[in-house]
Amino acid sequence: MDKILVHGGHPLSGSIKVSGSKNSSLPILAATLLTKEPCIVHGVPDLSDTHYMLQILTHLGAQVERASGTVSVTAEKTHSVAPYDVVRKMRASVCVLGPSLGRCKEATVALPGGCVIGDRPIDLHLRGFEALGAAVRVEGGDIKVFAPKLSGAVINMQSKFGPTVLGTDNVMMAAALAEGVTVIEGAAQEPEVVDLATFLNKMGAKIEGAGTRRIIIEGVAALHGAEHRVIPDRIEAGTFLVAGAIAGKGVTVKRVEPEHVRTTTDALASCGYHIDIGDHEISIFPNGAASALELTTAPYPGFPTDMQAQMCALLSISKGTSSVTENVFPQRYMHVAELKRMGAQVQLEGATAVIDGVDCLLGAPVMASDLRASAALVLAGLKADGITEVSRVYHIDRGYEHLDEKLSELGAHIERAKAA
Ligand code: EPU
Repeated sequence: MDKILVHGGHPLSGSIKVSGSKNSSLPILAATLLTKEPCIVHGVPDLSDTHYMLQILTHLGAQVERASGTVSVTAEKTHSVAPYDVVRKMRASVCVLGPSLGRCKEATVALPGGCVIGDRPIDLHLRGFEALGAAVRVEGGDIKVFAPKLSGAVINMQSKFGPTVLGTDNVMMAAALAEGVTVIEGAAQEPEVVDLATFLNKMGAKIEGAGTRRIIIEGVAALHGAEHRVIPDRIEAGTFLVAGAIAGKGVTVKRVEPEHVRTTTDALASCGYHIDIGDHEISIFPNGAASALELTTAPYPGFPTDMQAQMCALLSISKGTSSVTENVFPQRYMHVAELKRMGAQVQLEGATAVIDGVDCLLGAPVMASDLRASAALVLAGLKADGITEVSRVYHIDRGYEHLDEKLSELGAHIERAKAA
């Protein structure tokens, strides 16, 4: 298994371009199953998760071609069974359920297994399919959904931790080909949901209200091919901004939608960083010692859970005592034990991390546990004394396009040790 070695203490400067969004690409690629006609998606990042998604589409019968960031998918014929060995590598595989059900009126997808960031149920996705008229069964580890026809309904997608992103996506995709009107109440408002709705509308769907708590979908008989460029990855953008905060002399993140990262730029400004926001780029500059912060994650437009680990790394070396409360995935703190190995002072109190900033972290061998936790360890290593050796780097490769190369472009001393 590859490792990343970060030699701390080398300041970052210059500019970096953000890749296309992982969490937009995955459901948008799944949505290509809704039509027989060719679809072209630009800006798909080169990640193991997007490769897994293309493998699943191929398994389901689609013709897939990939040239750099452009992916063409033609699902002229498709079947609806995605077995465990195809889907187990990625929880987001669950988002083929909605389009398969919409197109084939049945779908069988292996139930995703456990997840290190906490229990990740899909009860709301299934409740949504049932409301559209589908029967749902779990058999031999597979979820089977089937319906002679799908009919529009009013569906609430709100869990006790907030709305569900992929659940909203799944129901929106199935409802696009249902008879009649579907209203999703308590819909997720994430920019990736809006991006999917934009793509579906280009395919001929009739969807209004994406980006608000109520999405209205008027079902159509068929969808056609479409071409689309996915939005920039707001979490990658946020991660580079935090890298600039931790170790930068002045870093500009380009190809970013500033509104999508507003809570991150607000948080960094509250810590004392100087932030310049342009049309599609954001620069961050140090401004004396960074100060402590109280941060709470929440569904969009709140502060993203996917940026929580990176902020913990930053607050570990900020002045004073910070508190970070995780409201979306309350157990998502696998990075804390590893940051402590680097000298961070963090106490977990339920879903809250209380962080006493230290003057400096020390490089250490640490283990990546999930995508964002791994990124946080790399960021911490940028400022730590000595070498931070991050193992299980495949977690990073799931969701960051060439993170080590991009950070090197900014001046980080970072190398990848290939597995023997
Ligand atoms: N939930 C339920 N029931 C459901 C679905 C969700 O109770 O049926 C709960 C979850 O347990 C969680 C909350 O609702 O507490 C929100 O989960 P959500 O369903 O929104 O998560 P997701 O759609 O599975 C996406 C992203 C995650 C991101 C979350 C929250 C993709 C592929 N994944 O997951 O991204 O953390 O939304 O914003 O879009 C990542 O990129 O590192 C990542 C984990």
